[in-house]
Amino acid sequence: MKPIKLKDNIYWVGSIDWSIRNFHGYLTQRGTTYNAFLIIDEKITLIDTVKYHLFDEMLERISEIIDPADIDYVVSNHVEPDHSGSLPDIMAIAKNATLFTTPSGEKGLKAHYKEDWNFQVTKTGEVLNIGKRNLAFVHTPMLHWPDNMVTYLPEDKILFSNDAFGQHIASSERFDDQLSLGIVMEEAKKYYANIVLPFGTQVKKALGALADLELDIIAPSHGILWRASLPAILGEYDKWCTNTTEDKAVIIYDTMWQSTEIIAEKIMNAFDNKGFKTRLMSLKDNHISDIMTEVQTAKYICVGSPTLNNNLMPNVASFLTYLKGLAPKNRIGLAFGSYGWSGQSVGQVEQYLKDCGFDTLDNIRIQYIPDEEQLEKTMIELEEKII
Ligand code: FEO
Repeated sequence: MKPIKLKDNIYWVGSIDWSIRNFHGYLTQRGTTYNAFLIIDEKITLIDTVKYHLFDEMLERISEIIDPADIDYVVSNHVEPDHSGSLPDIMAIAKNATLFTTPSGEKGLKAHYKEDWNFQVTKTGEVLNIGKRNLAFVHTPMLHWPDNMVTYLPEDKILFSNDAFGQHIASSERFDDQLSLGIVMEEAKKYYANIVLPFGTQVKKALGALADLELDIIAPSHGILWRASLPAILGEYDKWCTNTTEDKAVIIYDTMWQSTEIIAEKIMNAFDNKGFKTRLMSLKDNHISDIMTEVQTAKYICVGSPTLNNNLMPNVASFLTYLKGLAPKNRIGLAFGSYGWSGQSVGQVEQYLKDCGFDTLDNIRIQYIPDEEQLEKTMIELEEKII
């Protein structure tokens, strides 16, 4: 297990999780990495750790460079166990290490691990000298936990950004110029849509705080490090955090006897006729985390469900719950579906979309099997409302 050099005396010493496919509900079809970094200076510093079951891999990489017992400082940018899970093991080896974290970080780490390590609580803007280098800590609360911070190394122009700018990609390559940029950017978008999306205000604030930094490398805690496409990823984050959308409609549905599916296809055609990009996404065939990637930049979110036992189809309810939690803003919703007799589902979908804070178009609710004439009239009316 070789470490990977970022710059002189700065190494990636993380772990690669090739097999993970479910990250608390997020489909990680490309696996992921947990990125940790070792800086060799007068004070040997480890930035973040890895998920507990991959500790040995991180330790092997560190041991290629130094005796892990010689680590002086450990920086914990984030409490979530994918980054702190190996702290108990590494702190047991580096017995004299000081652990730097935010006030919420100290609270969270104590709650998780019940250990009274040698904590040193940081202030935002505080600078820690480690020899020839300095580490500046910038607190980024709720990006995406209360404890988050990022660490900037000015001498080498590296930002250790933790979850921000991450992507779930397992690979031996470490930099954005070593993989297809399309893949890296797509996974960065998926990561943002499924993890960071609710925290746009905090992202905007953090981007403001980081705006004047000179950057050679952004080193997130998952996936690929950015060095060749820094303006591209920063530009995308700038758009994503303000909920900037494009003329695009995502039509999401489940269906029992294909009537709701027929309506979904007609809605797609209506948006197509108006020059919109469209995505038709059956909940039977698409994972909700992949749907969110498309929702991320869509102006219209159309959701369809037939009525099942006076209720929504379970797949639709699951998606709507997920959507509401991720809270995209500045969107227009459209509820639709077929029904047999009681027909509550469309109203329930519409209420969900309103609860998400979306404006809504008049819903489309058709009994049993839609006929061509009825559909044509409904779609002409819909096209008139699409802006
Ligand atoms: Fe990658 Fe919030 O942990």
